[in-house]
Amino acid sequence: MQPTHEITLAIIGGSGLASLPGMEVVGVEKGLHTPYGDPSGPLIRGRLHDKEILFLARHGTGHTIPPHRVNYRANLWALKELGAHRVLAVNAVGGIHPDLGPGRIAIPEQIIDYTYGRAHTYFEGILEGESIVQGLGEIQVKHVDFTEPYCAALRARLLFAAGMSGLDAYFGGTYGATQGPRLESKAEIDRLERDGCQMVGMTGMPEAGLAQELGLCYACCAVVANWAAGRGGGAPIELTDIERVLQDAMREVHALVEALLRRL
Ligand code: HPA
Repeated sequence: MQPTHEITLAIIGGSGLASLPGMEVVGVEKGLHTPYGDPSGPLIRGRLHDKEILFLARHGTGHTIPPHRVNYRANLWALKELGAHRVLAVNAVGGIHPDLGPGRIAIPEQIIDYTYGRAHTYFEGILEGESIVQGLGEIQVKHVDFTEPYCAALRARLLFAAGMSGLDAYFGGTYGATQGPRLESKAEIDRLERDGCQMVGMTGMPEAGLAQELGLCYACCAVVANWAAGRGGGAPIELTDIERVLQDAMREVHALVEALLRRL
């Protein structure tokens, strides 16, 4: 893998964050192929606060790729190939904890994986005498330590950046990663809560695990789009409300990213 540029930060934009206003676009990497297939869309090379950044819309241009069909392996591989070593993932979530109402931003500390059937590792074993992980320079399976699923240094900087931009971010908590694309039943959310989850989303895994396998410094900026099923009074979850909340909250995400970049 030959990085071409020193990238300060790569951002994977989730629902509601299809681009980064304020970023000067200096290049668009289209048609990238990886040993794991193609990323969700073009990787945008940009500059913000004099820093080189990369931006990738997780769900593709026009938000057409559902969470279970995102090629998480190709996305992270491509970002690393273009020189990223630090990745900020922006993920829409439902709030389970009473403090995580719509519009709040959280920097989770832990994650539980409830997804299934997703390509979740770069270590696929030996295929016809050749390892598919050759690009990593590894042949043997590596069981990565996932005790801390997110990069502590980046989380700390995010917390600082949140303070600098006057954001009341929720620091900590556990992200429950569900399969989607449907939302959860109330009983499923009750179970997640018993398991210790404060928020629920569909895109946190396998992304975090794959980032760990690639040795990336990866952290999550979770944006609460709605109360999780049965929470916050149990009103039905309306897509139009989610879209409106995310649109408003993205202003805060931009402020957070700008403050973060000043510190990197
Ligand atoms: N559940 C799962 N994923 C989500 C939700 C939710 O309520 N809201 C936004 N992403």
